[in-house]
Amino acid sequence: MNKPKILVTGASKGIGLAIANQLKSNFQILAHASSLESLHPFGDDVELIAADLSDPIQLQNFCKELKSKHSEDLVAVINNAGLTFDKPIIFQSEKDIDLMMAVNLKAPIMISKTAMKIFSVKGKGTIINISSCVAQTGNAFQAVYSATKAGLIAFSKSLAKESGAINSDNQIRVLSVAPGLIETAMTNRIPEKEMQKYLEFVPAHRLGKAEEMAALVEFLLSDKAAYINGSCIDMNGGMF
Ligand SMILES: NC(=O)c1ccc[n+]([C@@H]2O[C@H](COP(=O)([O-])OP(=O)(O)OC[C@H]3O[C@@H](n4cnc5c(N)ncnc54)[C@H](OP(=O)(O)O)[C@@H]3O)[C@@H](O)[C@H]2O)c1
Repeated sequence: MNKPKILVTGASKGIGLAIANQLKSNFQILAHASSLESLHPFGDDVELIAADLSDPIQLQNFCKELKSKHSEDLVAVINNAGLTFDKPIIFQSEKDIDLMMAVNLKAPIMISKTAMKIFSVKGKGTIINISSCVAQTGNAFQAVYSATKAGLIAFSKSLAKESGAINSDNQIRVLSVAPGLIETAMTNRIPEKEMQKYLEFVPAHRLGKAEEMAALVEFLLSDKAAYINGSCIDMNGGMF
């Protein structure tokens, strides 16, 4: 029997890479990033899939391939790929706004739509959308990013309800996770002085680790979390 398969988007680095590494002993991982070159951290034990999620044609082909090649074994999708361009809204270009909307919100919606088609047939499956703490608190210079991440929380809650409305014996779960400051390329870009200011609000006075996020995702995928559905789980060290 084939190993159950999990798609992790944005698996080339940071949180996505940690999730893929954490899960790969028990699952067949389908690791996604914008290009095959950026997926170099993986060996033969991981399947690779590349698509620039900001490109509607590549997104469409990615979803088609997910359904045609991976339906049989797919048990979960982790929508983790994301990007941010931190700027005051008055300086935010329409191109960057479109990019954040496309990668952070539209792509997870289209990938979840495909996953729901697959999971509805089986009556089970899990979707985890990686949101952000700023979705609930707001953050200066991240207005658009925060809006995309807030959209993911509402989308997850709605989809969780929808799966129950459609399937009488429903074992489909849709969740979101809202990380605080996690040590990755995304937070490495924050200037030291600004970071120190943020850390004053974190009781542990440290960044979270990508591996800690991966451990949470592993738990949420497990049967132990079978009654957690629709929720947004915070992991921010007590920051908010
Ligand atoms: N780090 C934090 O503190 C933090 C806090 C809250 C929420 N988050 C969320 O957690 C998720 C992972 O963040 P991270 O810190 O691990 O980020 P990261 O290190 O910057 O990695 C981002 C991942 O997303 C992929 N990606 C970006 N643009 C893409 C595109 N156009 N098409 C396809 N893939 C694309 C990247 O692939 P390539 O390498 O191919 O570009 C990479 O694998 C994101 O959704 C982020 O918003 C992070």
